[in-house]
Amino acid sequence: MSAAELFSLRGRRALVTGSGQGIGLTLARGLAVAGAEVVLNDVDPARLAQAVARLNDEGFTATGRAFDVTDAAAIAAGLADFTAASGPGIDILINNAGIHRRAPLESMPLESWQAVIDVNLTSAFLVSRAVVPGMLQRGCGKIINICSLNAEISRPTIANYAASKGGLKMLTRAMAVEWGGRNIQANGISPGYMRTDMTGTLTVDPEFDRYIRARTPAGRWGEPRELIGAAVFLSARASDFMNGQILFVDGGLLSAL
Ligand SMILES: NC(=O)c1ccc[n+]([C@@H]2O[C@H](COP(=O)([O-])OP(=O)(O)OC[C@H]3O[C@@H](n4cnc5c(N)ncnc54)[C@H](O)[C@@H]3O)[C@@H](O)[C@H]2O)c1
Repeated sequence: MSAAELFSLRGRRALVTGSGQGIGLTLARGLAVAGAEVVLNDVDPARLAQAVARLNDEGFTATGRAFDVTDAAAIAAGLADFTAASGPGIDILINNAGIHRRAPLESMPLESWQAVIDVNLTSAFLVSRAVVPGMLQRGCGKIINICSLNAEISRPTIANYAASKGGLKMLTRAMAVEWGGRNIQANGISPGYMRTDMTGTLTVDPEFDRYIRARTPAGRWGEPRELIGAAVFLSARASDFMNGQILFVDGGLLSAL
């Protein structure tokens, strides 16, 4: 098999959750460049429509499905045409949708705890549960869960987020164990600190910006496009014997004391 074939996604259909902007949109475009037809999702229909139009304008085959990834009924309705027994199916699923609700742990509202667990962790169970029966039927599939450095290390005010991403890391391993014998590979990507809306308040905080640059061996923030290589690899034949692993794309941060 040539190197191009190892990494080609031609003929594959990929669903990326939370892809109206940020990392999700960048990964959807990256998979499309590698040949995949992409299905975008977001809870914000206007943002989603704009993202789909952008990819179509750039010449890619992209469609959108607006639904809340925490709502099982909405997921079923939003993906009905793909997941029906005779439907075309989803070959690659990237569970990317995520939120932050920062607060000191001792005064964190239950609503903030629950919302973050629901969107960052339970959603990956719900969307995978909807999509995987078709993968099992077709005898192959790739799942990529977007975890975080905070699946390994935490800082004050993000206990809900760290718990959700630690859970997502273990859900990734559980998926690998449960479905690996039926040719589904489930792996994760843990980004370091990347410039997106989610980190917008942090990138403009001079003290935090200095801290991240000093703390990261690369000496800078990451850009979402720097996650594309890992996502294409984990979506392609090149990773067919890799299962239950987490790739850290963090400029070396996790290795530094
Ligand atoms: N930005 C970083 O530095 C960073 C680092 C590590 C991990 N991550 C993870 O990467 C993923 C993407 O982050 P981002 O920085 O691009 O965030 P972002 O806020 O820019 O984009 C997230 C998108 O998800 C959508 N979304 C939120 N809740 C949803 C729901 N219930 N249903 C469907 N869509 C929903 C939002 O509308 C938004 O378009 C998240 O899981 C995040 O935790 C980000």
